[in-house]
Amino acid sequence: MVDSRETLPGAFVAGFPIRHSRSPIIHNYWLSQFNIRSHYEALEVSPDQLPQFIAELRKGQAWRGGNFTIPHKEEAYRLADRPDDLAKELGAANTLWLEDGLIHATNTDAHGFAANLDSELPGWDKVTSAVVLGAGGASRSVIQSLRNRGIKEIHVVNRTVDRARQLADRFGANIHAQPLPALSEVLKGAGLFVNTTSLGMDGSEAMAIDFSPLAEKALVTDIVYTPLKTSFLAQAEAQGFAIADGLGMLLHQAVPGFEKWFGHRPIVDQTLRQRVMDSMEHHG
Ligand code: ATR
Repeated sequence: MVDSRETLPGAFVAGFPIRHSRSPIIHNYWLSQFNIRSHYEALEVSPDQLPQFIAELRKGQAWRGGNFTIPHKEEAYRLADRPDDLAKELGAANTLWLEDGLIHATNTDAHGFAANLDSELPGWDKVTSAVVLGAGGASRSVIQSLRNRGIKEIHVVNRTVDRARQLADRFGANIHAQPLPALSEVLKGAGLFVNTTSLGMDGSEAMAIDFSPLAEKALVTDIVYTPLKTSFLAQAEAQGFAIADGLGMLLHQAVPGFEKWFGHRPIVDQTLRQRVMDSMEHHG
């Protein structure tokens, strides 16, 4: 029997700019693994072009669906017909697909965060207290993930404490906003410490952090993956804590989209991780 999906068009990631997106490597790897005759490509779509692009997507002739990245996540959410609860809470969508002529949307970042830790630091969600450094867009998905996994106490520490407060208000009673000077106090006894800031990214000035107030077996992770071992992770490791890098979040957040578009749930394996790492060596 011929799989009718094979005759349908492929999927995409749309961003502006879109240079160096790793998503085509990930999805094309899975397409060939499942022997699916389709394709996934990176498209440069400007903010001006986005409404027209989504109108075309809705017609169902050009694409099965796709990913939306910076700066389109908020607008993609607004233009979708059926955003799910995850996307609604974040006010942003990164994955859209067609179903019954309507554009459905979700945000898979919280899943990517949790699935990466499930794989790298199993048992990570058994902690009672977690600390999240940063209160930008990326921090939201992390907070959503921690709260949805039932972590009782979540401290969001940010240079601009107002931004942390806005997130605390949005995500519920267990979330506490803290200014940067409160960091060592809230780290006391915490079992999980997550960096979501760009501090130390691409060689920028790193902040010296004393991890010692953390619980003895605390876990430390960073959602930044360039470089793979950020200054934050290197310091945590040197101080004796188990660490997980952020590349797995990128790989795992791609899983639900592939399944929606192509009907198979893919696996994040070591070969895929290596392919993406190789591409980073070439493009920085
Ligand atoms: P993203 O959407 O990737 O999370 P963002 O919205 O620009 O990016 O947020 C960046 C985060 O890094 C913020 O929490 C920011 O703190 P402010 O809200 O106070 O700006 C944090 N950050 C960036 N540079 C920083 C620095 N030099 N010191 C402390 N925090 C910094």
